[in-house]
Amino acid sequence: MRILQIFGFFVILWHGQFAFRMKETEDIITGGCKKLENTTPLLRLKKYLFCDYDSTVRPNHHKVVTNITLRLMPKMMEFTEDGVLTLHSWMSFFWTDTFLTWTPSNYNGLTYIHVQPFYLWMPDIYVYNSGDMTSNDYQTIFNTECLVFNNGSVICVPPIKIVSKCDPDYTYWPYDQHTCLITLGSWSHIGEEMDVHLDGTGVDMNGYENNTQWDMKLLNAKKIVKKYKCCPNDTFPRIDYTFLLTRHYSIHYRAYIAPAIALIFLTLTVLWLDSRSVERVAMASINFICHLLCIFDLYWMVPFNGINSPHIMLFYRDSLILATFALILTALLRKLQNISMEMPNWISSTTTFILSNKAGRFLVLNDEKSKIADGGIVIEDNLNTPKSEMKKESWRHFATIIEWLSFFCVILTYVIILITLVLSGVTN
Ligand SMILES: *[C@@H]1O[C@H](CO)[C@@H](O)[C@H](O)[C@H]1NC(C)=O
Ligand SMILES: *[C@@H]1O[C@H](CO)[C@@H](O)[C@H](O)[C@H]1NC(C)=O
Ligand SMILES: *[C@@H]1O[C@H](CO)[C@@H](O)[C@H](O)[C@H]1NC(C)=O
Ligand SMILES: *[C@@H]1O[C@H](CO)[C@@H](O)[C@H](O)[C@H]1NC(C)=O
Repeated sequence: MRILQIFGFFVILWHGQFAFRMKETEDIITGGCKKLENTTPLLRLKKYLFCDYDSTVRPNHHKVVTNITLRLMPKMMEFTEDGVLTLHSWMSFFWTDTFLTWTPSNYNGLTYIHVQPFYLWMPDIYVYNSGDMTSNDYQTIFNTECLVFNNGSVICVPPIKIVSKCDPDYTYWPYDQHTCLITLGSWSHIGEEMDVHLDGTGVDMNGYENNTQWDMKLLNAKKIVKKYKCCPNDTFPRIDYTFLLTRHYSIHYRAYIAPAIALIFLTLTVLWLDSRSVERVAMASINFICHLLCIFDLYWMVPFNGINSPHIMLFYRDSLILATFALILTALLRKLQNISMEMPNWISSTTTFILSNKAGRFLVLNDEKSKIADGGIVIEDNLNTPKSEMKKESWRHFATIIEWLSFFCVILTYVIILITLVLSGVTN
């Protein structure tokens, strides 16, 4: 019994409080809206406009479309190597709110007022392909005021941060370009309720601060109206902004392309040197180490996108193979020239065949030997030398032939590699 009494008391108390609250709010609304004559025109106007305004109701008849005109004003951008474009920009939203019209002469000639977006109906424009919903939500839009004109035009220019995922392709690094798409549209309204339009070209790049690493260009901004099978009577308009990002490659050119060219010449120089010389061994080793260093450095530098290896990496890999080949060949040729074994027939016949050729003689028999290149003298000369020396001599000729052969083969290989890598980059 007792408990019920206490409970009932609380119920009465609660009801009493509630009724009191209701009365209080009613007073504020009606009282505030009634005594308008003594206040400023601006306050009068605000009371007039927002007394029975509902910010959740679209400001048109339900069969009339609300046109939203958009203009994107990029200020700066960031692009991370994993393909996330962050665009800091201003965005102007322009529409007509038929509930917000007044006659300026009634309000001391006020033709426009500032209004917190919180009080207004706002279009629910979102970035569709966003990687980050929190970054472009209405919190930022709510922080800036909008202008409302006496004819009902509303314009809001909030700063927004658009995060969008691009599909990066690093195949032609550091000459890479990426296309980034930003798609905007109403999140929940169909095109018959709310339509989006571009303001002129839709983008104003005037206030854009150039990025030090990327050059950003607008490829196009266009409105796309989609229809889906589900709803044949509804359209789904959206706006697609396509940006082209081009890397400023000069630093990478200096750090990675120039060394690549240097390494080509280094490898060729190794092959061109006499294989008996110590310089060739030293240079071949240095060349090999340089290749390794460059590849490791490049590996940390080049962004990875999982599908296509950057062509520069492929080039360094191929060049490393050639450098390894040059190093091993150098070792083999040095070994070969100390052999005192009898030459197999096929080798000696090949050597003789090449030496019988003028160009072959010119290449194989170097300076001091070229004088004695004429048949008779060579034989006479050879007669005077011991047999093991003669064998060594023919091995030496064989080695020289291989040296030249490898030199030209490597040049040819480099040309083929460069043509395939560069050409495929040009045609794409
Ligand atoms: C909206 O834009 C369309 C096409 O530009 C136009 O035909 C229509 O009258 C506009 N509606 C309003 C309410 O301004
Ligand atoms: C309303 O007035 C503003 C400012 O004068 C103007 O920019 C805007 O175009 C007008 N809107 C309409 C729908 O006439
Ligand atoms: C920004 O870059 C563009 C093209 O790369 C150039 O035309 C423009 O002058 C640059 N602007 C500034 C402020 O550096
Ligand atoms: C589309 O409009 C047509 C003609 O007004 C109507 O017959 C049809 O039922 C509508 N379809 C849907 C899915 O609303």
